[in-house]
Amino acid sequence: MSGYGEEFQKLIEAVEASRPARVEMAKRGEAFPALTMTQREEWLGKYHPDYKDEGRRAVKVGPNEGQVFPEEVSELLESKSILSDLKIDLSKPDYETDLLVIGAGGAGTAAALAASDQGLKVLVSTKLRHGDSNTVMAEGGIQGADQEGDSPYFHYLDVIGGGHFTNDPALVGAMTNDAPIIIDWLERMGMMFDKFPDGRMKVRHGGGTSRKRMHSAGDMTGAEIMRVVRDEARNRTDTIDILEFSPAVELLTDDNGDVTGAVLYNLETKEYYVVRAKSVLISSGGFGRLHIQGFPTTNHYGATADGIIMAYRAGAALQDLDSTQYHPTGVVYPEQNVGLLITEKVRGLGAQLVNIDGEQFCFPLEPRDVESACVIRECLDIEKGIVTPTGRPGVWLDSPMIDILHGEGTVRKELPAKYIQFKRYGIDISKQPMLIYPTLHYQNGGIKIGADAATSVPGLFGAGEVAGGVHGRNRLMGNSLLDVLVFGRRAGLAAAEHAGKTKGDGKLTLGHVTEFEKSLKDAGIKKPTVGPIILPDYTPDHVKSRQWC
Ligand code: SIN
Repeated sequence: MSGYGEEFQKLIEAVEASRPARVEMAKRGEAFPALTMTQREEWLGKYHPDYKDEGRRAVKVGPNEGQVFPEEVSELLESKSILSDLKIDLSKPDYETDLLVIGAGGAGTAAALAASDQGLKVLVSTKLRHGDSNTVMAEGGIQGADQEGDSPYFHYLDVIGGGHFTNDPALVGAMTNDAPIIIDWLERMGMMFDKFPDGRMKVRHGGGTSRKRMHSAGDMTGAEIMRVVRDEARNRTDTIDILEFSPAVELLTDDNGDVTGAVLYNLETKEYYVVRAKSVLISSGGFGRLHIQGFPTTNHYGATADGIIMAYRAGAALQDLDSTQYHPTGVVYPEQNVGLLITEKVRGLGAQLVNIDGEQFCFPLEPRDVESACVIRECLDIEKGIVTPTGRPGVWLDSPMIDILHGEGTVRKELPAKYIQFKRYGIDISKQPMLIYPTLHYQNGGIKIGADAATSVPGLFGAGEVAGGVHGRNRLMGNSLLDVLVFGRRAGLAAAEHAGKTKGDGKLTLGHVTEFEKSLKDAGIKKPTVGPIILPDYTPDHVKSRQWC
């Protein structure tokens, strides 16, 4: 019994009818034409959620005062501290360390390893468990120009073009040059990359890439990366301590405003802990769980913008935080999977997007923002989308093409997680297409950093999704797994250098919070929300207000 039901089965007939001609075209190496640069600009302006005026407003305080961000972000940037009404004794720290790492996904773990290589004592605090992060959920691959015919130079050009020339060139240079080193580092730690029987790496295209440089581990590349870096970190019990279920809720500064530690909150015991550190790294991920513009998300449960909020209060400047990535292919059916990621690898393997009439309507590997704009246009403007029983629009992602193009069993081998995820609901994606629509996937901007991951505040570093500038206003696939490792390692090294020059015995204060909250008052913000929020609140209002006896 198919999970699609009769009505969808009927609609799928149009996809099946057009498939043989589309497969023949693909076999001849012909593709649906990509948009021209002018069309790209026009379609982005008309259809991409980032280009809407609604749902955005200027932030009234802080280093980026006057800049327009999504409302959800501006509200949190103007929030007051969880600690405002509490008395925390800062004079006797519970922990003292060389480097405090806030957030234990790919970036934080890579930083801990790099700092530990330099002989530093590292304390890693994480909101949930070690590795619970967007890194572990990343599917399709990691870019690295380590194959014949490719070079960091081409990778650099692709990243800059994909970001519409808004990226920070120094950060892109750092990332693309370090990429082959990172792939080699992962392999030496035991990562199981997809390979040909003769040992060569299997590499593929992602959207907006001029060379095949996407390295993968099935459709669980992030999980495999996290496995090796986490194992390595957890083996280093002499230098790396990990505190789980202990999110940071505020940074601490000394009398000069340098960052010197943080306050952690233990989610289990509900106690606060004071940490003194010579260097502090924020690697706590992005803001997907704020559901910007009402979109569902692919993101990890803890992606609530905490790092940005704390860093902003301490005076760190932000960059491109008004730019959000909507992944073109999020699940819209079955309802239980709504918003979940369908990796770009599916299109990298040849699957095409088609509308209700079975027509292909865009080049499948446009840069992500453009591809998303194409899907939104097809559904909302052209009205050639499909509507699910709960009213969600979507188009077909014709995954059965993959087995036809590459041989029976390819879907199960290359996309095992996706195959199981749909099979659970009676849908065999090697035989039936998937219904998709864009889903909130990534925070393109973030804390402004340099190539050494240093922020504008002494003692504070930022790496991974929490930081901005690397990808400009649009990230290409496979560059976030790379970014977290490149800048995580760079942050670990730079934090070690900083720690070596710092006595780390200054007074611990919350002076920056007091000043920030004064600026809230001065700006006329009378009832600020409390932030960071730590976890998203999905309790419906009617449940919250219910009286239980
Ligand atoms: C994907 O597999 O499409 C997501 C990975 C990424 O965002 O780079």
